[in-house]
Amino acid sequence: MTKYLVTSALPYINGIKHLGNLVGSMLPADVYSRFLRQIGEDVLFICATDEHGTPAELAALEKNQDVETFCTEQHEVQKDIYTRFNLSFDHFGRSSSDHNLELTQHFCKKLMENGLIEERVIKQVYSVDDGRFLPDRYIVGTCPHCGYEAARGDQCENCTRVLDPTDLIKPRSAVSGSSNLEIKDSKHLFLKLPAMEKDLAKFIDEHEAEWPVVVTSIARKWLKEGLRERCITRDLKWGIPVPCDGFDGKVFYVWFDAPIEYIGATAEWADKDKEHRNWKDWWYDAKDVKYTEFMAKDNIPFHTIMFPATLLGSKEPWKKVDYIKGFNWLTFYGGKFSTSQKRGIFTNQALDEFEPDYWRYWLMANAPENSDSSFTFSGFASTINKDLNDVLGNFVNRVLKMTASKLGPEVPNKAEFTQMDKDFFKVLGEHIDAYTKYLKELEFRKALVELRAIWVEGNNYLTAAAPWTVIKEDKERASTILNIAINVIRLYGVLSAPVIPSTCARIMDLLNIENASYAWPEKDLEKELSKVEVGHKFNVPEAPLFQKVMDERVAELCEKYGADPE
Ligand code: MF3
Ligand code: ZN
Repeated sequence: MTKYLVTSALPYINGIKHLGNLVGSMLPADVYSRFLRQIGEDVLFICATDEHGTPAELAALEKNQDVETFCTEQHEVQKDIYTRFNLSFDHFGRSSSDHNLELTQHFCKKLMENGLIEERVIKQVYSVDDGRFLPDRYIVGTCPHCGYEAARGDQCENCTRVLDPTDLIKPRSAVSGSSNLEIKDSKHLFLKLPAMEKDLAKFIDEHEAEWPVVVTSIARKWLKEGLRERCITRDLKWGIPVPCDGFDGKVFYVWFDAPIEYIGATAEWADKDKEHRNWKDWWYDAKDVKYTEFMAKDNIPFHTIMFPATLLGSKEPWKKVDYIKGFNWLTFYGGKFSTSQKRGIFTNQALDEFEPDYWRYWLMANAPENSDSSFTFSGFASTINKDLNDVLGNFVNRVLKMTASKLGPEVPNKAEFTQMDKDFFKVLGEHIDAYTKYLKELEFRKALVELRAIWVEGNNYLTAAAPWTVIKEDKERASTILNIAINVIRLYGVLSAPVIPSTCARIMDLLNIENASYAWPEKDLEKELSKVEVGHKFNVPEAPLFQKVMDERVAELCEKYGADPE
């Protein structure tokens, strides 16, 4: 049986993430993992904080904390937020774990044995005023490609190109702002990507047809521009030490060790139950594993070229990714969400404003899959009001209240199904098939259109069947309709669970179903729709499942988060 390994790009430890980070990796990975579990697959969903490198050091510096304390604290802060968002990681690890250290040094050793690493003395930027080297984000300047003025030494945030600190125009220290910089010699390790060009091209070729265009086009661009040797070490104290002579005080580049933490975190997970878990089953010679990675587009070069190079170059049978789900950007009113510039809505703020499912639903319905998508408060309000409140919430509320008031708080009797009922089951079944297919294919926006259609069909059925009128002449028929409708509520609780899990738990509570099974519906819908049995007591809703987001609230939010109301 195939096992499913799912990883989400590891969020940097440097600060609380914004909604764009959430929708670009962790949330869709969660929806997919939840779906796979519901269809009965064996799933391992792994994530961790990415704790090394200059982002961590700089953020700790800003908070006046030593970097280790900072990371320990921030790991808990992020973990708590993801728990509240209901992200169902099997393990949420830390790239500063011992496992990652061991594995990273192992890969370095293997790559060396295979002649894929070379030592070079290079010129590094040294800040006289700061008394230190300035790798990566310690240095800022103008991007030589697009002219963005706040480009960092490792990558331009604006055009996503990967940079070298020495590429920057008008460079200055990110710590002190000083431009009193010198160039000094420093010894480093380089990964010989050109020597692996053929293997990497073959690896991309094998997946070209299947992977999203945003993924393959970025990988192709890298290959076409010609691969260069990449420096995988840094003049920094914080990180994984380089286990080579003459490298005291140097560590691996954060992008070398971070993806290895996917494996490291799996080992951390296995440590929690050594008797039954073996991380190698998922990573080493693991032919029965299907491995899917989720990430935003700036991460794609590292996952299509760099990390595969580490794995391939080891010449050991490490599991390589089978499918990469890459995302474009979520924008905030068309502009950038930015952690460093504190623009947009951060995940902790989001949870202070609305229940997690409001965000989960909006974000998945508007996931930036094929192009960027834009967050606005009015768009958010309209989706919540129309889809969650008017369609799903209203159906649940209406059916349970009406049944309780007309027939009592128990599932009413059912008689023969009519043609109308059967027609309803048929369209419902068609939408469920499409929804299932899109989830399997990781086409989230299309999947959510189907999910909404599934909810809409319930309302349409209710309107057409009109039990409130029918009951006056034919109580048996009205009972049948409401019996179906209550069973449809349970079905919604199952089908919606990958996207809005806490709402679904509330639905199961309303239906008074203990230890609800979320097993995906069977093909035979008539059978599926008889699972809540006649006579079963349910709870009458005291409040609707969702609250509408009113215009005044939208205006308040715009004001609070500095958005221009449209
Ligand atoms: N921390 C990186 C980011 O937020 C992602 C790291 S993904 C991993 O962009 F592969 F390195 F783990
Ligand atoms: Zn640029």
